[in-house]
Amino acid sequence: MKRSIRDLVGLEGKRVLLRADFNLPMNKVGKITDTTRVVSELPTIRYLVERGAKVIICSHLGRPKGFEFRLSLWPVALILMKYFPGKVQFAHKVIGDEVAKQVESMSNGSILLLENVRFYKEETENDPEFAKHLASLADIYVNDAFGVAHRKHASTFGVARLLPNAIGFLMENEINTIEEAIKNPKKPFVAIFGGAKVQDKIKVILNIAKVADSILVGGAMAYSFLVAQGHTIGQSLINAESVSSASQILDELKTMGKRIVLPIDHIAYNLSDKKMKPFQTEVLSGDMVGADIGPKTINLFEEEIGRARQIVWNGPLGKYEDEKFKAGTFKIAKAIAKSKAYSIVGGGDSVSAVKQAKCDKLINHISTGGGASLKLMSGEDLPGIDVIQEKYI
Ligand code: 3PG
Repeated sequence: MKRSIRDLVGLEGKRVLLRADFNLPMNKVGKITDTTRVVSELPTIRYLVERGAKVIICSHLGRPKGFEFRLSLWPVALILMKYFPGKVQFAHKVIGDEVAKQVESMSNGSILLLENVRFYKEETENDPEFAKHLASLADIYVNDAFGVAHRKHASTFGVARLLPNAIGFLMENEINTIEEAIKNPKKPFVAIFGGAKVQDKIKVILNIAKVADSILVGGAMAYSFLVAQGHTIGQSLINAESVSSASQILDELKTMGKRIVLPIDHIAYNLSDKKMKPFQTEVLSGDMVGADIGPKTINLFEEEIGRARQIVWNGPLGKYEDEKFKAGTFKIAKAIAKSKAYSIVGGGDSVSAVKQAKCDKLINHISTGGGASLKLMSGEDLPGIDVIQEKYI
């Protein structure tokens, strides 16, 4: 069990470097569209502030190449100021004399948000010198950035090796919830996967299959499974790699004696028809492109969901961002929310879908991590968690 901030004593006056994941979604003009990741970080920040720590927060935003004005964390500082009036300062850099001076002038219980750590290429390179500079700002390191725990970067990994460390409340809750769901699932356990790339999900599907009772697959990746089973899929998008991954999964599930449920009908459009009028079809052939699960599949999935006592869902079941093809994803989101099963939803698109379908409040656990939650569910090691010291050492 990892050391948590609850285990840290004597925080008064201590400089705590808190790695948060403030990689917030933005629209085309760079406006932040969802502040969930900031709100989820508040308990950890509050805990440190109330104990008189000097809270230095660092995070990435997007994948910049050097300094990019639209990816500055300044708008996040403004959000934090609303929650902690009079306590928040912003540093325009991450390391260097100016930042060191700002840290020196911090009073107990105040917050300093550093600029986007990915403005420095040394961050993603896990550069040891950069990690040293970061470490020099603080006495203690707390990692609460679950969404980026699968990255071995200077601020998620390198710096942790140089300071006494712990995980924050958000990270602790994500690890406990996801690990418990995989180790001791409530039965029947139904896992639902969607999205495009099968190859990204091989490990998670096979690991979950060991404990799940059924695996439901929709979205673009379902077409690779259908091809692997010998069905025609018209012009639906697939590639050789995803079909081979799907075949591998089907073989292994067969050996394990596990059930996979694939779409039995589709909402499709004709590639040559510019109007893209959707129509239902059981078999995809010719110029047809599948873009959502059809009504019979929705019924089938709803029946499985209705019987479940635990559900894990990752990945949309169709092109849900298009009004014409959102029914499958939204109906399944609602069915999960309505069910009595313990539900976990992860992955940016599925989380966004449950929010758009206005049923996020009825989901038991919405993970703040996409790639990180998949890796944790796959039973893989996450560097940002592994590097943190164990509780009883
Ligand atoms: C996320 O949004 O999934 C995390 O913040 C990780 O971001 P990254 O994929 O750019 O590392």
